[in-house]
Amino acid sequence: MKTVSVINIKGGVGKTTLAANLGAYAASQGRRVLMIDLDPQASLTFSFMMPEEWRNFYADNMTMKNYFDAAARDMKIPSLSSLAVKLDMGDALNLEDRKFDLICSHLGLVGTDIKLASHIFAHDIDLLASTTLKVCSYLRKSLSEIQDDYDLVLIDCPPNTILS
Ligand SMILES: Nc1ncnc2c1ncn2[C@@H]1O[C@H](COP(=O)(O)OP(=O)(O)OP(=O)(O)O)[C@@H](O)[C@H]1O
Ligand SMILES: [Mg+2]
Repeated sequence: MKTVSVINIKGGVGKTTLAANLGAYAASQGRRVLMIDLDPQASLTFSFMMPEEWRNFYADNMTMKNYFDAAARDMKIPSLSSLAVKLDMGDALNLEDRKFDLICSHLGLVGTDIKLASHIFAHDIDLLASTTLKVCSYLRKSLSEIQDDYDLVLIDCPPNTILS
C-alpha cells in the first residue's frame, strides 16, 4: 500500500482536485483506493457526496474528527476501516465494482488544528510529545493496520502545515 499526501501550504492551488482525480483514476485502473479528507473545509468530502448525505449518515460518527477527538482524549481510536465510506459512483467511470472509499472530514477539525498549532508554537516539548507527536504516531499505526486492504491511500491536506 502506498500512502500519498497532497500537501501545499498555499490555498486554492488544486490539491483537492488532484486528490479526487488521482483517486478516481487509480480506482478505474483497478487499484483499491482510500481517500482521507484531512481538511476541515471538507472539499474532498463534498466532491463525492451531497451535504445532506454527509449530515444524515456520517457527520456524527464517521469522520476524521471522530478519529482525532478520540486520539486527543486517549480514548479507543476508531480504525480507519470503520470510518471508511464506500462511495457509490453509480456507473460513472466504470467504478461500480471497484474499491473506492473515502473517510470524510468535518468542519470541527478546525479545533484539532488550532489545538495542535498551540502546542507547537508554545515550544513546550513535553506537551508536544504527549499530544501532537502521539497523534501523528497513531495515524501512522492506523495506516499500517489497513495496508493489506488498499493499494493506494490519498490524503487531502488543508492549506497549512499543522494537520498536514
Ligand atoms: N488544473 C486546474 N485548472 C483550472 N482550475 C483548476 C485546476 N485544478 C483545480 N482548479 C480549480 O481551482 C479551484 C481550487 O481547487 P482546489 O479546491 O482543488 O484547490 P485546493 O488546493 O484543494 O484548495 P484549498 O487549499 O482551499 O484546499 C477549484 O475551483 C478548482 O475547480
Ligand atoms: Mg483542498
